[in-house]
Amino acid sequence: MTFWHNRWQTQQIGWHRDAYNDLLTKHWRSIGSKKGDRVLVPLCGKSLDMLWFASQGHSVVGLEMVEEAIQAFFEENKLDVVCDMVNDQIHHTSEPFTIIEGDIFNLKAGVNQADAWYDRAAMIAIPPTKREAYVEQIRQFTKPNAVGLLITFTYPKEEMEGPPFSLTDNDVEELFSDGFELECLERLDLTDEKDRGLSQVTSSVFRIRRVPS
Ligand SMILES: C[S@@+](CC[C@H](N)C(=O)[O-])C[C@H]1O[C@@H](n2cnc3c(N)ncnc32)[C@H](O)[C@@H]1O
Repeated sequence: MTFWHNRWQTQQIGWHRDAYNDLLTKHWRSIGSKKGDRVLVPLCGKSLDMLWFASQGHSVVGLEMVEEAIQAFFEENKLDVVCDMVNDQIHHTSEPFTIIEGDIFNLKAGVNQADAWYDRAAMIAIPPTKREAYVEQIRQFTKPNAVGLLITFTYPKEEMEGPPFSLTDNDVEELFSDGFELECLERLDLTDEKDRGLSQVTSSVFRIRRVPS
């Protein structure tokens, strides 16, 4: 059983929020998405932010490897779900939501690439050694010119073993240096996160556009 399957089975899901993310609702307008756009949500868990995207007229493609998390999203939101095999991957669908089940590093993008993407507690959840592969998957799953909103979590690395793994602004700038344009929209001090015993915690919100090659 993986770390994440264990977290879901034992309901140790302290990252989950029962409200929409404030930084999402504040900054999404600057992404410039239109009604009908498809939004990719990698490592989606059962995030309510997917409901917010639907309320904005978007369709949502989530990527998640723990079936229990996917079922919880549909059940807790009283959505009837249909499961299909598409290219050897299980798609759980209840319009306008599709959650593709599997390890993001093994999933193959179909023809329907996303217009936009949203990363909250996703890149910081994967080991730093896999970050480049993660960026490659973002590239594969999105259209040229797709725009993403990425929320980071930064602390002195030596003070905690992740997840969440510390992701600095420099890390983001390096990882997205090839074929993307970035802008930092906001930087925040997260004083409430110091309960974890961390001396300093900050978060940045990036807008990241995929530049056509
Ligand atoms: C920290 S949680 C964040 C969930 C969601 N983004 C949110 O804000 O509530 C990370 C999620 O990613 C999933 N996950 C972790 N590694 C994954 C991988 N390699 N492929 C797909 N899902 C993964 C976990 O099961 C978990 O639900």
